[in-house]
Amino acid sequence: MTMEKKIDKKKLPQHIAIIMDGNGRWAQKHAFGRIIGHQKGTEAVRDIVRASCELGIKYLTLYAFSVENWIRPTQEVNALMLLLERYLRSELNEMLERDIRLVTIGNRSALPERINKSLKEVMEKTSHNRGMVLNLALSYSGRDEILRGINTLLTDMRLSKLPSEPITAEVFLSYLDTAALPDPDLLIRTSGEYRLSNFLLWQTAYTEFYFTEILWPDFGRDDLLEAIINYQQRERRFGLTSDQLPKVAPG
Ligand code: IPE
Ligand code: IPE
Ligand code: MG
Repeated sequence: MTMEKKIDKKKLPQHIAIIMDGNGRWAQKHAFGRIIGHQKGTEAVRDIVRASCELGIKYLTLYAFSVENWIRPTQEVNALMLLLERYLRSELNEMLERDIRLVTIGNRSALPERINKSLKEVMEKTSHNRGMVLNLALSYSGRDEILRGINTLLTDMRLSKLPSEPITAEVFLSYLDTAALPDPDLLIRTSGEYRLSNFLLWQTAYTEFYFTEILWPDFGRDDLLEAIINYQQRERRFGLTSDQLPKVAPG
């Protein structure tokens, strides 16, 4: 049986988030410079976006660049920005063809002007697409997102734009970058690291985690399918007992 056949199309994760890690180690393993690793990583992004879209995943969030990544060597940061710009330019047509809508989370004001210009263009041109939402986390960190949200909330409070205290979870999450997105059902991290690295701290409260040793440039369609198959074997209880969960009709 092919991998694809093992997937229950009715139980697909609605939102998959991926910490794409291991480009540097992939490069080292093949005796290349780190930047080649990032280049290969971009190719893996292409494959995984395609595969997710074909499977019918509704939201795909990719951790592409963290707030902490800014302090990497300037040459590496510049190369990553250049790759991002090229990616945006080369993928626009495919996004339009595949009905993919591009959105971002993270502190966009920290990104170079050129990137923001390309992002704006691609986001505008894909804004009516409804097939899949591709969400890029750029200059993103969970703590930074929460703090930016709280500061905007405080400003709104001072301007009396908020009706009443106390702040509810619904009001709070409307101030997060992910306000328009459901929480991730499945979070994948490649390269054998078992940590969140400041990714989606609030949103992963009940996310299922999947870790793999595979380095990001080697992560392909079948690896994604394997992660989904693994996810589908789990029971998500959300604090309840097994008996309390709605019974799924057989077949
Ligand atoms: C992930 O690969 C890409 C980014 C963080 C931008 P890394 O560059 O972190 O690769 P490793 O962890 O050094 O192998
Ligand atoms: C997490 O990877 C960030 C991205 C994948 C963009 P890192 O390589 O930056 O994480 P740490 O430093 O190993 O925790
Ligand atoms: Mg890393």
